[in-house]
Amino acid sequence: MNEGDDFIALDFFAGSGTTAHAILGQNSVDRSHRKFILVQLPEPTGRNDYPTIADICKERVRRVIKKLNDEDAGKLDLEGSEKQDRGFRVFKLAESNFKPWEANGDSDADSLAKQLELHVQHVREGRTAEDLLYEILLKSGFALTTPVEKLSLAGTTVFSVAGGTMLVCLEPEITLETIRAIAEKKPERVVCLDSGFADNDQLKANAVQIFKAKGINSFKTV
Ligand SMILES: C[S@@+](CC[C@H](N)C(=O)[O-])C[C@H]1O[C@@H](n2cnc3c(N)ncnc32)[C@H](O)[C@@H]1O
Repeated sequence: MNEGDDFIALDFFAGSGTTAHAILGQNSVDRSHRKFILVQLPEPTGRNDYPTIADICKERVRRVIKKLNDEDAGKLDLEGSEKQDRGFRVFKLAESNFKPWEANGDSDADSLAKQLELHVQHVREGRTAEDLLYEILLKSGFALTTPVEKLSLAGTTVFSVAGGTMLVCLEPEITLETIRAIAEKKPERVVCLDSGFADNDQLKANAVQIFKAKGINSFKTV
């Protein structure tokens, strides 16, 4: 590794995370900004504290980052060298957060009624806002490394993606005030949870108009 390198290392068999450890360590030595992508199966360890090898890997990387941050904090930085941005995101492969519509051909009234019932809440149970957010991000063409900021607009949590290019509201209840506050930010795209409108078609129609009036032409509900 040479000083000033700025590559992304991909380790498909990450194990305990040696690649990340090495890169973080070398970045600290030569103040470079190399990145890493680690892939590790959830191979069981039989341990309670770290049930899978992936858990060991995550813990090791956390500890390395803490150690390097502590070292930096303890140093008198006479050269004014740039602060190292140390952090990582963890993603797990999983089925979509949104229940698929089972077009199994049964078009009789009962089956349709059952399907409709199932889709009143079409988000799978136990999924977090972050789970939904990253699925929406990927499906909207953004990378997993895209900067995401959590905003509070009219008292409602709204995710700002790529410096405000896309605003995502995944709250179970959306108000006119929230819609107006989102519109004021003038994002290129807006995504909201459909159930956030709770069948209030008037509110949804207002949202379309308010966004259009602000030149926001991409408004989607999921
Ligand atoms: C030889 S170890 C790598 C050790 C690693 N260099 C370290 O620093 O600990 C190989 C690792 O690859 C993982 N592995 C094997 N097949 C895999 C796959 N298809 N996808 C992801 N990880 C895999 C295994 O669980 C094991 O932890």
